[in-house]
Amino acid sequence: MSATYEGWARGIAGDPDVVALIDELPSPKRQPNLVFSAARFHRAPVGPYRVFRDWLHEHWTEVRETALTHATQTNEAGRCALHLPVLAGFEGPLALLEVGASAGLCLYPDRYSYRYAGHPQLDPATGPSPVVLDCEAVGPVPVPTRLPDVVWRGGIDLNPLDVRQPDDVAWLDALVWPEHDDRRQRLRAAADIAAADPPHIVAGDLNERLVALAAEVPRDATLVVFHTVVLMYLDADERQRFADTVRALPGHWLSVEPRTVLPAIRARDDVPNDSADLVLALDGVQRAWAQPHGRVIRWVPNP
Ligand SMILES: C[S@@+](CC[C@H](N)C(=O)[O-])C[C@H]1O[C@@H](n2cnc3c(N)ncnc32)[C@H](O)[C@@H]1O
Repeated sequence: MSATYEGWARGIAGDPDVVALIDELPSPKRQPNLVFSAARFHRAPVGPYRVFRDWLHEHWTEVRETALTHATQTNEAGRCALHLPVLAGFEGPLALLEVGASAGLCLYPDRYSYRYAGHPQLDPATGPSPVVLDCEAVGPVPVPTRLPDVVWRGGIDLNPLDVRQPDDVAWLDALVWPEHDDRRQRLRAAADIAAADPPHIVAGDLNERLVALAAEVPRDATLVVFHTVVLMYLDADERQRFADTVRALPGHWLSVEPRTVLPAIRARDDVPNDSADLVLALDGVQRAWAQPHGRVIRWVPNP
């Protein structure tokens, strides 16, 4: 949680003048994270509410425009530490297809270094990466000893962000909570890695694009379709359509979503977890509880 955003949200709740500004936005845009990120995109001072409030009155026109034209699409490379133990269990070269990929930073699990607490650092074959992901591994997590061989990577997003565009990277930066400096540094380093070998991300709805993109995957690679904090943006019918489509593809399905999003996946509450943890499931069976930014993975033994 962000103490700054909590202070701002409490301040706004008791401030009818600022509520009136925010009411100018259509209701889907009245999200705290969107408005605060739009403000920080325009360099709102991070500090007490009264300072923020004065600044917001002065800069509301720009903030409103940014909130209207942008969406919350945080891209967190740290989530690769959640995906890796599952990816490393597959045979052969991998084809990674991420739906809801944002800028595609989770498509490079083979280019980052990993420090699972209690395990030796794991580096790409070329040596340590400028992006080092720290993750606490609780329970019998199958922490690998080498990184997977990724031969194809592709993504789908309603609005792909481009790591080569400074404004897109600045927006991703603004989406990171103010206190999370480690995540901001990681974002910049991961964006440099992706910019050197830009991902193939198709613009469009994941249900409309999935089958065609999956058909581009090389035949000798193992297809893994994955997503993290994406299906919550779909309604129940769209989620079901996606689940049916992905199950019919010749590959695996790695989902990392809040516990209520895919009710057909049995959530393992018999294994200790944090209330904010995500359900990490392989082919519809939960394998772990996952801290949303990739800081902790709690393995779920077979029932
Ligand atoms: C919270 S972000 C997560 C990004 C990335 N998966 C990660 O973990 O860092 C959710 C992304 O899903 C995308 N998205 C939402 N609904 C979508 C849809 N129906 N089709 C394709 N992308 C969608 C959004 O544009 C956004 O970039």
